[in-house]
Amino acid sequence: DKETHYSFVVMGAAGDLAKKKTFPSLFQLHLGRLLPGSMKIIGVDDPKFHTDVTSVSDFWEKRLREYLEKQKGWVNEDVESFKQRLHFVHVQLDQPETMSALDRRLQELAEGRAKEHRVFYLALPPFLFAQAVEHLRERCWSKTGWNRVVVEKPFGKNGAEAAALSNSLKKYLDEKEIFRMDHYLAKTLVLNLLTLRFANRELGHLFHCHHVANVRITFKEAIGVQGRAGYFDGYGIIRDIMQNHLMQVLTLVAMEAPATLEAEDVRDEKVKVLKQIRPIAPRDCVIGQYDGYQADPDIQKINLKQGYASRCPTFAVAVLYLDNERWSGVPFIMKAGKGLEVHQTIVRIQFKKAPPSSLFGEQPQNELVIRIQPNEAIYYKMLAKMPGLTQQARDVEQTVLDLDLKKRFELRRTPEAYEKLIHDVIQGESHNFVRRDELEQAWRIFDPLLTTLEKEEKREPERYTLGSRGPLKADMLIDRMGFRRYTVT
Ligand code: BG6
Repeated sequence: DKETHYSFVVMGAAGDLAKKKTFPSLFQLHLGRLLPGSMKIIGVDDPKFHTDVTSVSDFWEKRLREYLEKQKGWVNEDVESFKQRLHFVHVQLDQPETMSALDRRLQELAEGRAKEHRVFYLALPPFLFAQAVEHLRERCWSKTGWNRVVVEKPFGKNGAEAAALSNSLKKYLDEKEIFRMDHYLAKTLVLNLLTLRFANRELGHLFHCHHVANVRITFKEAIGVQGRAGYFDGYGIIRDIMQNHLMQVLTLVAMEAPATLEAEDVRDEKVKVLKQIRPIAPRDCVIGQYDGYQADPDIQKINLKQGYASRCPTFAVAVLYLDNERWSGVPFIMKAGKGLEVHQTIVRIQFKKAPPSSLFGEQPQNELVIRIQPNEAIYYKMLAKMPGLTQQARDVEQTVLDLDLKKRFELRRTPEAYEKLIHDVIQGESHNFVRRDELEQAWRIFDPLLTTLEKEEKREPERYTLGSRGPLKADMLIDRMGFRRYTVT
């Protein structure tokens, strides 16, 4: 459409998130010809914090080049055409007139087209969200098309802070103009959860307490906090990973079928199941911290300032229960940790054991496993008769029914979660963004636990060796929940 112009404005463009995630994803969408032809990308930042970036060519050379050239599948022309889209503008949030100048620049770039749509992607620290949104709304709002604002966690440190943030955004924006991003929602196998359960109807029936003994949702990272200690120490693994990313995964595993696949129906159903989750009991939680965390120079500074050694958990296990018929009595075991033995995010649905009196006697439990990353796969650990002449039907072994996405779909690459989400924002597709009430419910589940750990108990995390499975106490808690480890993977 020749009369429509698109502006994609990245606020905080010279910062870390923008160069590592936002711009590489925009570049991939550009390579895939998935951005509107007329779309301009405008990097915006405050010269006070980035004195080395004064022009678009600085921005390219000093921030983007290294990250974009690392991407695969481009030729020189692609880089040139991407640069054609690219602009850089200085803005200072404490000087609103600089926002008016941004607005004039956006209008110029639209070259008189009748309709102008604007995305504002806030790659900013959350304490700036409200101020940024206020000025954007007053001075930079397109009057001829839609405006959309993308924000990313952390949304506060607890429910009250998240609500205050939501309220200040609500003063200026409609809920449908706000896109709260949780990039886990756009991972290929997270997107596939509703399909797995509700397109394969017979399989969907297995997701029920009649069959399931326990569900484990595990996030493991082999690296520590590296360079992000200043942010991380204020939040900890429960807020950084569990309350948002893993809660979203849990919700999709546990929810009922939505009335339709429309965004509002799906999100209504998610909120319904979230409301049925009990707040986590502190006794159902083990926290840990890897050895060496205290040696990080940023943590030493924090310790010195606060006068005690950081109790920030880099590891946690928590058990959640749902009060509904489908999941009555089934523990959902969530585990997240940094500095562990592997890099992996996995959902394991472990089925009930057959009684010893059953036809085949005692056997390992079957499992449906969804490996979100790396190497996306779904597999079902099941029993089969050993092949061979002499064996009897009862000579069974646990084996694997396996869907390896790369092999099956001959994928060259699966798109990065950020790519899908940015594309969704431009399309106005809000399925995979978090609605305000989902966020409130997720905090309700975690708030009491965090208050007990941090304010009442001041609980010391268990130490664990960098590169290990995490603290022993965590495995003990998981074993108490009836989870059994088997060797077949
Ligand atoms: C981010 C967390 O939201 O997710 C990081 O802040 C974490 O601490 C990251 O490393 C993990 O995302 P992914 O996509 O690499 O699993």
